[in-house]
Amino acid sequence: MPFAPHLSLLCPVCRQPFEPSGAHPQAGKRLVCPAGHSFDAARQGYFNFLVGKGTAFEADSAAMVEARHSFLAAGHYLPLATAVAAAVVRVLPATGAAVLDSGTGTGQYLRVLLDQAAATAPAAYGLDISKYALRRAARLNPEAMNLVWDIWQPLPLATDSVDAVTVVFAPRNPAEFARVLRPAGRLVVVTPRSGHLAELAARTGMLAIEEGKDARLAAAMASHFDLESSSDIDIPLSLTVSQATDLAFMGPAGHHLGREAIAGRLAGSREPVTAEARLKLLVFTPAQTPAE
Ligand SMILES: C[S@@+](CC[C@H](N)C(=O)[O-])C[C@H]1O[C@@H](n2cnc3c(N)ncnc32)[C@H](O)[C@@H]1O
Ligand SMILES: [Zn+2]
Repeated sequence: MPFAPHLSLLCPVCRQPFEPSGAHPQAGKRLVCPAGHSFDAARQGYFNFLVGKGTAFEADSAAMVEARHSFLAAGHYLPLATAVAAAVVRVLPATGAAVLDSGTGTGQYLRVLLDQAAATAPAAYGLDISKYALRRAARLNPEAMNLVWDIWQPLPLATDSVDAVTVVFAPRNPAEFARVLRPAGRLVVVTPRSGHLAELAARTGMLAIEEGKDARLAAAMASHFDLESSSDIDIPLSLTVSQATDLAFMGPAGHHLGREAIAGRLAGSREPVTAEARLKLLVFTPAQTPAE
């Protein structure tokens, strides 16, 4: 199903809603705002809103994105994706629902969500700073509006426009999430807990997850959100050496260690390589009196 541009989407230059493209021959492929700023879809279907903005960032490389895609495609984190989707689906209205997956990566979490929410068919936005990730996400979720954008800039979405924001292992901008969420909406956050993949971290040079991150997250959210629920999700993993290499390489270690270096540290390991994902799923409601 091709994406129908939605009035909630704002032009990243002047922040006016895009014109509905209706029966225009470029429908779904070009966005034009009332001031004439126009954006063409990339061949794979995503839109790059950062064109010319010169934002500095360290995006995941194409190779890291491929490692993430193949690790997730094998279904290792499906229990997590299902839990995220369940937390969202139960709060979606029957009609006019909309969701934002912020830091959507290769789009696999949004895919599971959209499949589980098929009855309500929410409008969907997938946002990420990596165009390599969005190439994958746009192919997997053609019904979503996939946007290259920097989460630290004002989001190109109208105020009160989505029922749920999901953020899985990705950076969080609480003020902007609170702005785009409808009052009855939910913010669903997944973060690693202390000890996440500790066995693998010790062997590959992945960064260990620090203690105290939870407290910092709660404090960062507190001015805009109330915590509704918190659950721990533990996923035992039984991996081939190649899958374990993908898992280490797709995370922050991929930025400072090459795949070869990680593979070298795991070479000769007895299969299956075992590890445990230790995760936390947090559901927040917008605070009743948000801080100014
Ligand atoms: C660890 S990955 C998680 C991706 C996906 N949610 C998943 O779990 O597979 C973190 C994602 O956040 C994105 N990201 C990092 N900084 C960002 C920023 N400033 N704005 C938007 N996305 C960002 C990265 O490109 C990457 O796809
Ligand atoms: Zn504009």
